[in-house]
Amino acid sequence: MWISPIYQSPFVDQGYDISDYYAIDPVFGTMEDMDELIAEAKKRDMHIVMDLVVNHCSDQHEWFQKAMEDPFGEYGKYFYIMEGKDGLPPTNWRSYFGGSVWEKVPGYDNLFYLHMFAKEQPDLNWENPVVREEIYKNIRWWLEKGISGFRLDAIINIKKSLPFRDYPVDGDDRGDGMCRPGIMLEHAEGVHDFLQEMKREAFAPYHAFTIGELFDFHPEELEKFIGDDGCFESIFDFSTHLIGASPKGWYDCKKVTAEEYKKVVFANKEISQEIGMMANIIENHDEPRGVSHYLPEGEVNETSKKMLCGLMMMFYGLPFLYQGQEIGMENTVFESIADVDDINTIDEYNNTLRLGFGREEALKIVSERSRDNARTPMQWDASENAGFTKGTPWLKVNPNYTEINVAEQQMREDSVLSFYKEMIDLRKNSEYKEVIVYGKQIPVLEDVTNLIAFYRKGEEKTLLVLANWENAEKEVALNEEVGCVIVNNSVDLEMNGNTVKMRPYQFLVLEV
Ligand code: GLC
Repeated sequence: MWISPIYQSPFVDQGYDISDYYAIDPVFGTMEDMDELIAEAKKRDMHIVMDLVVNHCSDQHEWFQKAMEDPFGEYGKYFYIMEGKDGLPPTNWRSYFGGSVWEKVPGYDNLFYLHMFAKEQPDLNWENPVVREEIYKNIRWWLEKGISGFRLDAIINIKKSLPFRDYPVDGDDRGDGMCRPGIMLEHAEGVHDFLQEMKREAFAPYHAFTIGELFDFHPEELEKFIGDDGCFESIFDFSTHLIGASPKGWYDCKKVTAEEYKKVVFANKEISQEIGMMANIIENHDEPRGVSHYLPEGEVNETSKKMLCGLMMMFYGLPFLYQGQEIGMENTVFESIADVDDINTIDEYNNTLRLGFGREEALKIVSERSRDNARTPMQWDASENAGFTKGTPWLKVNPNYTEINVAEQQMREDSVLSFYKEMIDLRKNSEYKEVIVYGKQIPVLEDVTNLIAFYRKGEEKTLLVLANWENAEKEVALNEEVGCVIVNNSVDLEMNGNTVKMRPYQFLVLEV
């Protein structure tokens, strides 16, 4: 169970701005609650993975406060503090959340600190061994407490390309005269030295599970991340998330198609499965809801939701489910930008307005991609606030909670929730575990449009996975005889010899 940051935080970036790494924020409870959670998880043979946010901390963290009081003193060296160019920022990098990565140190005209994300998230200086040791100390402290590992937030950012310099301005039309932050990272070398040191000093002695969140890495480096001697157990596979993305901004993004999805997944697995295990996701706290994002509008229903579930569970890799995904939660409705909390979405909204779009259109554009879609309260039942709270939730509940909620789905064998349980059971079933966890993923019938088909070949068994990713029936001629049907998300299965007549969005796992 991976828990997003619950440490003490002013919540400028929903907890990804930590002001005390050793405290639980009162919003979530107390350290005693945390201890109880760890103990109860242990009893159930479950494991807790916490978020490790150490590229940056919060501007409210004691280290940063001290650094601002005395930028040239000991704590100044915990951060990247640099002179500017006659009052202008030292370099031309744009932060991930818009605007310059440099912010003036209060009280100085030409002194700046670096923040790759929001200005309230100053980057920690990993070149300073004292900072690294502080971080390792904190990791060991949590592992001593009994958690089992960490999800490493934005971890590729810890290594900067030194000395800092300007990069060519983006050719896009954000029109701010800056370059995207990733360019600097592409020039940075040596992140693996930091990561191996962290593994040696903090993770390895506890056999901790580690999963990295990283973009902007070179594919040749995969071995160093998740190979036998890699620094992590796994990293998230974001390949399908990048489909349709545009450096210009959200207004320019394209909707995903089944064919592109297939191409990207197959290409990624072909390489990655030879090296290690990446983690499969359809959504997380930084993405819109997967069912709304990947499926065509008007075709988001329980059958198509189950198809997406089936695919992510059957692809080679480690499946991660995000809260609410198991009941097929969908994107929410934002009535105005005031309904949005997320700084990233607000930046994209402003960018869209700047480019001349009207307010309504801008809201529509950001509504499709906002990560706040995934951050609305969990839909437990049909009572007020979806049974999440009797207080005022920090984001409005998705209005569809009366139809989509856990209580309703628990009662139905054909619900999305029941299908998720079925897929999880299958992955744990002693007969199929070996082939599903370790079997090679081999594409088949690649030319059939809007069909995603592949084998999973294990030591003893071969499974054939078929997903009809469109709202139309499709006849598929198989190359072999079907032994038995293991999973079917539809009410029936029509077979004629070796030909399957697939229903819209039908998903099948067959033993062949
Ligand atoms: C990661 C987190 C995201 C956060 C960012 C900065 O990408 O998943 O939620 O905004 O890092 O910490």
